[in-house]
Amino acid sequence: MIKTQYKKILLILTLITCLWNALEAQNNDAMEEKIENILSQLTLEEKVAMCHAQSKFSTKGVERLGIPEIWMSDGPHGVRAEISWDDWAYAGWTNDSITAFPALTCLASTFNPELAKDYGFSVGEEARYRKKDILLGPGVNIYRTPMNGRNFEYMGEDPFLASKLVVPYVQGVQKNGVAACVKHFALNNQEHWRDKINVEVSDRALHEIYLPAFKAAVIEGKTWAIMGAYNKFRGTYTTHNPILHKILKTDWAFDGVVVSDWSSAHSTKEAALYGLDMEMGTGTDGLGTTTANHYSNYYLATPFLKMLKSGEIEESLVDDKVRRILRLMFRTTMSSNRPFGRMNNVEHHEVARKVATEGIVLLKNDNNFFPIQDKKGLTIAVIGENATRTMTAGGGSSELKPKFEISPLEGIKARYKNAKIIHTMGFASGRSVYDEVLPSPYDADSLKVEAIEIAKKADIVLFVGGLSKSHLQDCEGDDRQQYHLPFGQEELLKEIKAVNKNLGMILLTGNAVEMSWLDKVDGLIQGWYLGSMAGHALADVISGDVNPSGKLPFSFPAKLEDNAAHSFGALSYPGDGTNQYYKEDILVGYRWHDTKKIKPLFAFGEGMSYTAFKLSDIQTDKNNYSQNESISVSCTVSNTGEKTGSEVVQVYIGKSKSKVKRALKELKGFQKLEVNSRENVTANIEIPVSALAYYDDTTSNWIIEKGTYTIYVGNASNNISKSLKITIK
Ligand code: GLC
Repeated sequence: MIKTQYKKILLILTLITCLWNALEAQNNDAMEEKIENILSQLTLEEKVAMCHAQSKFSTKGVERLGIPEIWMSDGPHGVRAEISWDDWAYAGWTNDSITAFPALTCLASTFNPELAKDYGFSVGEEARYRKKDILLGPGVNIYRTPMNGRNFEYMGEDPFLASKLVVPYVQGVQKNGVAACVKHFALNNQEHWRDKINVEVSDRALHEIYLPAFKAAVIEGKTWAIMGAYNKFRGTYTTHNPILHKILKTDWAFDGVVVSDWSSAHSTKEAALYGLDMEMGTGTDGLGTTTANHYSNYYLATPFLKMLKSGEIEESLVDDKVRRILRLMFRTTMSSNRPFGRMNNVEHHEVARKVATEGIVLLKNDNNFFPIQDKKGLTIAVIGENATRTMTAGGGSSELKPKFEISPLEGIKARYKNAKIIHTMGFASGRSVYDEVLPSPYDADSLKVEAIEIAKKADIVLFVGGLSKSHLQDCEGDDRQQYHLPFGQEELLKEIKAVNKNLGMILLTGNAVEMSWLDKVDGLIQGWYLGSMAGHALADVISGDVNPSGKLPFSFPAKLEDNAAHSFGALSYPGDGTNQYYKEDILVGYRWHDTKKIKPLFAFGEGMSYTAFKLSDIQTDKNNYSQNESISVSCTVSNTGEKTGSEVVQVYIGKSKSKVKRALKELKGFQKLEVNSRENVTANIEIPVSALAYYDDTTSNWIIEKGTYTIYVGNASNNISKSLKITIK
């Protein structure tokens, strides 16, 4: 009886899906027809005008036909304040303060695709409300070196993790009728010399490490836009690069728009031929005396028109660009059923808080330093500039003007009603987020003296330190120049420890840092840049209201030389000013640490909880698989502690005795599960055998090698509970 009912339901569902797909196809055909219709009415001048900026963040429509302009805005963590028409100055609006969501490294640390969807939907809703048709994010460049100034904007060192989070983020944004613009395509893995460095990397590493997140965003996420990068690849600028163009628009059949980075276009011919559709921000040398005509000097403006008229460039090339731009318009500004968007609403604040609390990583907790109870008579000293310094301003194009930003100090004060909270800056970076030197009212020594005094008076010291969002820190435009903590923090930590044993560190960074001071702290929280709700999220975890479940999306090498990119001299990082060679090839991040047996200080996928978990009954559904099957990995997750918490079961797969070089193991599946105290939950992770393929440079194909593979199941790349053998026939 149930079987027949079940069959009926299945049949109905199949019918609905077919109907839906047919309807969607019909809609697409209708849209394509409209596009052809409009295209046939456009003059050459109108077509060319659509392919380049008319202002800092907009492109022309076609007034004659009632086709609107396209407006775009940064960035990945929230909608940037309005910028002037024709220069980088802010427009000074008073209605563009928004919700600042946590940086994408924090989102990556949640290992939670559901949350990535909520994040994308919320930030997209704010972009819609601000009438932006393209949101210039998310960024998915792989974390190759801890020195990259923009790592905080990206999703870590593993292509699988980034792929699993970028897809729901893009889908969430686009539900609002706003195009996501996944960036920076491709190989923009550092900021130093970003505008000219030529990256040399093998096809295999390109396809296995640096492209997967973009491929997922296009094929699964259906992103409507992609942003080209500044750097070169194999001698040609990535924004109009023949190899990347073929991969994106032929192999992946991307049907959206390629937007340049601002001033990343460098040639009319290459832009025309190799797939740049929308040229933005070109730093023309202001040829005209007024700004009136300098947009017409863009590569895809007058020079492009001339080449089209002379026949040097086929009109079909500009038609392809305009088709893509019109397609983006029908999906956004000319879509008939776009929602209206919302901004600064409670739901967005809740999403920002949830991403922050779920992304915070507990890395050390000796003597159960955390959580800290709120009780009368307890004095907590909160020391460090990062306890009060804004972390949403600065950092470059992802900077935000939030309606509010709860600082760590504010959040801790709001949560701890009984304990006494005292504070001092302890150290000062001496820099504004725009890198102006701040005439600090006191010098470093007096700051330190005061910090020691405060520490003596407290029962517990919470040091809130890390990096900042100013130049040469976690900031676009250049890289960090030191791996250790800046502004004298290490010294200060040691001196505080000397007067107060109860010392915990809240590290606010978007990058790994050296931790020579690690033995000085009992508790260590990796706090990320947490956005508007930073202080409340940190207090949620510090107080134990929320049980931390974040896992590191990138490795923390003990010293910089332990990192792969820094193991091959200057030509590997930062390059020689012209070229750089990714000599570590596919062994990026934990792939390097595991394969070369270089123990990281903290490992990819690592993160503690206030409770304890145990994985058991780890198994696969069988031992032998054919190439078109899926591997089902299951295990029991037991919460053996007193508090409900979430654990991330991670499945890595490796192949010894392979005919090609391989990392010891690679992440191929994960599942985050909430488990009540003293209860068990079963994890089920499906891995298609096709995910085990490696990219073969010689045939430019993905190949699934037959033979034995090892499946590693654990809760961190350096904490594997069990490994199993399977065979691929
Ligand atoms: C910047 C960034 C890019 C940003 C664009 C507009 O240089 O590289 O991520 O979206 O220009 O601000």
